[in-house]
Amino acid sequence: MTQPHTPREAWIIGASQGMGRALAEGLSRQGWKLWLSARSRGTLEPVAERTGGTALALDATEAESLREAAETVFANSQPELVIMNVGDYQPMPAVEFDAGLFERLNRSNYLSCVYLLDALIPHLRGRGGQILLNVSAAAFRGLPLGAPYSAPKAATLNMAEALRPELSAVGISLRVINPGFVRSRLTDKNPFNMPLLLEPEVAARRIIDQIDSSGFEIAFPRRLIWTLKLLRCLPYRLYFWIVDRWVLRR
Ligand SMILES: NC(=O)c1ccc[n+]([C@@H]2O[C@H](COP(=O)([O-])OP(=O)(O)OC[C@H]3O[C@@H](n4cnc5c(N)ncnc54)[C@H](OP(=O)(O)O)[C@@H]3O)[C@@H](O)[C@H]2O)c1
Repeated sequence: MTQPHTPREAWIIGASQGMGRALAEGLSRQGWKLWLSARSRGTLEPVAERTGGTALALDATEAESLREAAETVFANSQPELVIMNVGDYQPMPAVEFDAGLFERLNRSNYLSCVYLLDALIPHLRGRGGQILLNVSAAAFRGLPLGAPYSAPKAATLNMAEALRPELSAVGISLRVINPGFVRSRLTDKNPFNMPLLLEPEVAARRIIDQIDSSGFEIAFPRRLIWTLKLLRCLPYRLYFWIVDRWVLRR
C-alpha cells in the first residue's frame, strides 16, 4: 500500500508582495504547505487564498509579534523552511542625512532578522530546519544613496556568517539570499537605471531551485554578483575612484 504523501511545510515572512509573494506562488505550485506573514491582511489574504496557505499577520520589527507567531506556527505544524523576506528601502543623498531613516531601515532590515532568529532557534534546535534570510548584494559594499539600507544588510550578512557554524552543529541551516535588483515597490523608488533588473518570478525560481542545496549563499544574477564581489576586493583608493567615475558622475 502506498503511504499518503506528506507535503513539505514552509513559513514565509514578507509574503504578500514582491519576491515573497512570488516565492509563495512558486512553492505552492510544487505542493508545499505554507504559512504566510506580512503586516497588511488586505494584501496577504488574497495570496493565502491563491496558494492555499495560512495567513498570519505580524510586524517583524516587534520581537513579541514574531515570538507569538512562531508559537502559533510550531504548535500547528512542522515547517522545515523559514524564509525571511521582510525589508524596506529608501534612497538617501548624503547631504539629506536622516537618522530617523537609519533607525527605520535598521529595524526592518536587521533587527527583524535578529528577532526572527530569537523566536525560531528554540523551536528548531535539535529538530532541525533551514532559515533563509533575504539579504542583498547591497551588503557587499557601501554605495552612494544606499547607506541606510546597505549598512543593516551588511550587519545581517555578517551576523549570519558568524552564527552559521554553531547553528549547523544543532541541526539548523542558516543561509542567505543575495539578489541584485528585483522589480518591486522598493526598486520603484530608485532614481537610476538598475543593471540586470529581474522580475520577482524569475528571482523566486532561482531561489526555489536552490532550496535543497547546502551552500551558505544564493546569489544572482551572476554577472552583477561577481562584479560587486570583485569591487569588494579592491583597495579603497581604487574603489572610490571607480565610484566617483562610474556612479557619481553618471
Ligand atoms: N527588490 C530588490 O531589488 C531586492 C534586492 C535585494 C534584496 N532585496 C530584499 O528582499 C526582500 C524582499 O524585497 P521585495 O523587493 O520583494 O520587497 P517588497 O515587495 O516590499 O515586499 C516586502 C514584504 O515584506 C512585508 N513586510 C514589510 N515590512 C514588514 C514588517 N515590518 N513586518 C512584516 N512584514 C513586513 C511586506 O508586506 P507589508 O508591507 O504588508 O507588511 C511585503 O510582503 C527584502 O528583504 C529586500 O531588502 C530586495
